Amino acid sequence: MASITIRNLSKTYGDVADAPAVKDVNISVPDGTFLTLLGPSGCGKTTTLRLIAGYITPDTGEILVGERQVSSPAAVVPPEQRGMGMVFQNYAIWPHKTVFENVAFGLKLRRHSHAEIQKQVQKSLEQVGLSGYESRFPNELSGGQQQRVALARSLVVEPEILLLDEPLSNLDAKLREHMRSELKELQRRTGITFVYVTHDQAEALALSDQIVVMHRGAVQQMGSPYEVYERPANRLVADFMGLMNSFQGQVEPGANGAATMTLADGTALQVPAPAGLVDKKNAEMVVRPENITLRAAEGHSGGLQGVVTAQTFLGNLMELTVRLSFGQEIRVQSHPLTKFSVGDAVSLALNAESVSVFVQA
Ligand SMILES: Nc1ncnc2c1ncn2[C@@H]1O[C@H](COP(=O)(O)OP(=O)(O)O)[C@@H](O)[C@H]1O
Ligand SMILES: [Mg+2]
Repeated sequence: MASITIRNLSKTYGDVADAPAVKDVNISVPDGTFLTLLGPSGCGKTTTLRLIAGYITPDTGEILVGERQVSSPAAVVPPEQRGMGMVFQNYAIWPHKTVFENVAFGLKLRRHSHAEIQKQVQKSLEQVGLSGYESRFPNELSGGQQQRVALARSLVVEPEILLLDEPLSNLDAKLREHMRSELKELQRRTGITFVYVTHDQAEALALSDQIVVMHRGAVQQMGSPYEVYERPANRLVADFMGLMNSFQGQVEPGANGAATMTLADGTALQVPAPAGLVDKKNAEMVVRPENITLRAAEGHSGGLQGVVTAQTFLGNLMELTVRLSFGQEIRVQSHPLTKFSVGDAVSLALNAESVSVFVQA
């Protein structure tokens, strides 16, 4: 199997005056990991994947597979000589070929023997749960089955690395979730290094060992699903990874790696100190709705106070809107059987561990 190292990779389409599609990207993908490139549409995910695959020449930087350089501005090893498979969003399977012929294509191209092709095609159809479908045509398959054909076709050449570009985005929600766990299981079973592209943060959280969050061609953060969700490196990452409440205020350093965040109404909260904080700074504090606990208001109790102004029952949870004493409205997620309802006065406790504070320039 194989690791991938990406160093200082940049690519601008067209003119130098255009914004780069990929900007000084550094990523290391350990052998056998499931790594996901995550970010909004247009942030450079597909371009990065196509650079890794060898379809595009970088303007700067290099890509290594193991110790071997496969891409640099001077030389690009062609896609079929990289030990990689690629799965596209639109499947890219041939409508006039059977499942067998679609899957066999890569092996025929490589001039494998008839017996070898039979064996390998059967094996990869088995891996994706499509044994028995060899003679069907794509229009006789469901969307999920067509996506499996595309997967089998990329697995048949026994790649060390599989590149997948939003492979589940054309499937309905239920099937998408099902295919998610199958992909994860396939990756575990085969030990193939996966580089997966999606704009769907839930999908990235569920599938990945490592997530690389991208924005406008640049890497914002690389970390485990827990790290990018609970310890976002900046506001862009926090915002992209899930719902959040944002508070303006001032932060100053305290003892033992803690800091004090003072909000608009004078409420002071103990928070984890932002890196490099030496004196008082304007800052933004972000807290996810599930990290706020409501209690019955206790008159003078200090801390954040508010009134519930709306509630929405979402089945597995209750989402409440709370107007704070200084006018700001925030979202809170509670157990569906929460005792609070519209009009109740509440005290709010923030889970200090899951608060992020970003110092403003
Ligand atoms: N072939 C191309 N020619 C010119 N610009 C492109 C081309 N492909 C992508 N881009 C531009 O590069 C940027 C990154 O695109 P892309 O890598 O496809 O992003 P993503 O996959 O994250 O949606 C976008 O601004 C997009 O418009
Ligand atoms: Mg894309």
